[in-house]
Amino acid sequence: MNKEILQLIYLVGSISFMIGLKMLSKPDTARKGNLIAAFGMTIAILGTIFLYEGIKISNYGWIFGGLIIGTLLGTLSAKKVKMTKMPEMVSLFNGMGGACAMLISAVEFTHLTHNHEIGALPKGHLLIIMLGLIIGSISFVGSLVAWGKLSGHLGDKTLKLQQVVNIGLLLLILGITCYTIMVGPPETITYFYAIWGLSVLYGILFVMPIGGADMPVVISLLNSFTGVAAAMGGFLYDNKVMLVGGILVGSAGTLLTLVMCKAMNRSLTNVLIGNFGGGGGNGESTTSLSGGHVREINVGDTAILLKYANNVIIVPGYGLAVAQAQHVCHELEEILEKEGVGVKYAIHPVAGRMPGHMNVLLAESNVSYDKLIEMEHINPEFSTTDVVLVVGANDVVNPAAKTDPSSPIYGMPILDVENAKNIIVMKRSMKAGYAGIENELFFQPKTSMLFGDAKGTLTKLVSEIKAL
Ligand code: TAP
Repeated sequence: MNKEILQLIYLVGSISFMIGLKMLSKPDTARKGNLIAAFGMTIAILGTIFLYEGIKISNYGWIFGGLIIGTLLGTLSAKKVKMTKMPEMVSLFNGMGGACAMLISAVEFTHLTHNHEIGALPKGHLLIIMLGLIIGSISFVGSLVAWGKLSGHLGDKTLKLQQVVNIGLLLLILGITCYTIMVGPPETITYFYAIWGLSVLYGILFVMPIGGADMPVVISLLNSFTGVAAAMGGFLYDNKVMLVGGILVGSAGTLLTLVMCKAMNRSLTNVLIGNFGGGGGNGESTTSLSGGHVREINVGDTAILLKYANNVIIVPGYGLAVAQAQHVCHELEEILEKEGVGVKYAIHPVAGRMPGHMNVLLAESNVSYDKLIEMEHINPEFSTTDVVLVVGANDVVNPAAKTDPSSPIYGMPILDVENAKNIIVMKRSMKAGYAGIENELFFQPKTSMLFGDAKGTLTKLVSEIKAL
């Protein structure tokens, strides 16, 4: 009877994951979707603890102790985290998923070896343990390195012959894994630890050289790795809900990676062998356009330009999130619309620090969804736009992506703001963005810089336009 109830719980859990995932695709249903998926996960965990008949569970103290500590830590960090620090937290949490898959494989391999069962074990079973170990380790260590880089604790490091080293490592891991699966018996324990060590090393070497602007692709790839590694655990234990959860994360992560690769004009093979351009990643410029002339504009002149424009495109970027200027930005949009100015937002797929960052931010301040126009649809509109207001964006409007083959962001599609009649860039200084490179847009004759914190400057702009 318990078995049937557990299967039913797994079915409900799996369905809730799918509904939850579907609802996460829209900001207005995302919160509810998250709760539904969390409900599914809770019943799946409790069902497994109390109704699983395979093994007699006696260590409830350890299980619930871990659950309580994990829940407390997760809730506190999720409540405390600033929106701009979200990618770091996502990386860290993703790494924990990879660590679980890695430890499951390690525990199951040692368990089977101690019981001398490996020789008798189907090769497919051993393959699953090995894949869980390799993918889980890469995901765990890679996510920790990504966290270090996003939080500024680690810089980019590229070895000499990085690609050769990475390909060699992958081939070595593959070779030893095949040998371990073929040979099977307990003597292969040393090889098991060698595979573990090499996978950890690969995790470090694969993320370490990834340059600033390309981190989003790697983060979503690591996400998909964690899903696949968790699915291996589902195969191993013949646990349907774990399998479904892992496959959903794995496939959603893979799709997101492909979308990101397309948006950044990068190839997946290049991501896997760590062949991405470097970059500062710390806001310090690594190239110099010194000698170029920068034109400044003040709030009063900007207000006049905006009020008497026919159409305005706002380009939000990471600085909008840092300044928490989304509400006042929406206010500016409403005031301009009242004055008869057409206002739209241009959304670059990697603006900010996480997928959909700008959409979430602007939805938070009730900007209408149909005003958010994706890059490929808005790009042809810039040439007929009177004023483009760039609010805390930098890399996503950097023409070097089109004109400078030596630039680390070369090839990444950008918002073609330079085609507009007037470009006003709001930021605090001439500092570089995430990729650590200067932006020739700031030096172009049609561009004017409006220096200051985005929230403060937008607030002044709103008052100025009202007073005109
Ligand atoms: P960035 O290129 O990082 O530029 C943001 C700009 O905002 C900075 O140059 C900064 O200049 C300005 N800024 C910061 N705080 C501000 C404030 N309080 N008020 C006004 N301006 C402020 O941002 P972007 O154009 O959105 O591009 C995103 C970058 O992050 C890309 O390189 C992307 O690849 C990378 N990335 C994206 C993701 C995802 S998935 N979206 C994840 C990881 C990395 P000042 O310091 O002079 O003010």
